Amino acid sequence: MDRDSSPDNPMTVPAADSPTRAFPTGPVVVSVCTTCKTADGRMVGPDMFAAVTAALGANDEMVTIRPVQCLSVCKRPATVAVSSADGYTFLFGDLETESGTAALASFVQSYRTSDYGLVPWRERPQVLRKGMIARVPPLAWSPDDGRPPP
Ligand code: FES
Repeated sequence: MDRDSSPDNPMTVPAADSPTRAFPTGPVVVSVCTTCKTADGRMVGPDMFAAVTAALGANDEMVTIRPVQCLSVCKRPATVAVSSADGYTFLFGDLETESGTAALASFVQSYRTSDYGLVPWRERPQVLRKGMIARVPPLAWSPDDGRPPP
C-alpha cells in the first residue's frame, strides 16, 4: 500500500478541482520487459509486449510502448514500467498477459489525467495493486518536498 492511500496522510498533490493541475505533458511510456520468463523457463515477455502493443499502442500518439531487455525484477514476470518525462514511474510485476494488459490500459488512462501521473490508489486495478514493485517520483518533485515545482 502506498503512503497516499492512508487517510492520515494529506497529500500535497493538487486536488482534482485545483486550478494548478499538472498532468503529464508528453506521452505515457509503457516499458515492457521482453526477456521475462517464468521459473520453469517459459518466455512470457514477448507475449506481454505484443498484447500491450495491441491494446494500447496502435494509434495513440500519447502512449509509447517500448520493449526493454530487463527491469531487474526477473523473479516477478512479466514486468512492466509506466512513466513519463515529468511524471511518476511505476513498476509492476507478476502480470498475466490478459489481465495485466486490461489493467494497464485502465491505469494508463488514469495516469494521463492524474497530477504528475500519480494515479490514486482507488483508481488502480487490483492486479496492479498486488503487483506494485515501486513508484518513483518525478525528477522535478516529490510530495515529500511539500510543494509542486515552480
Ligand atoms: S528479465 Fe524481465 S525483469 Fe529481468
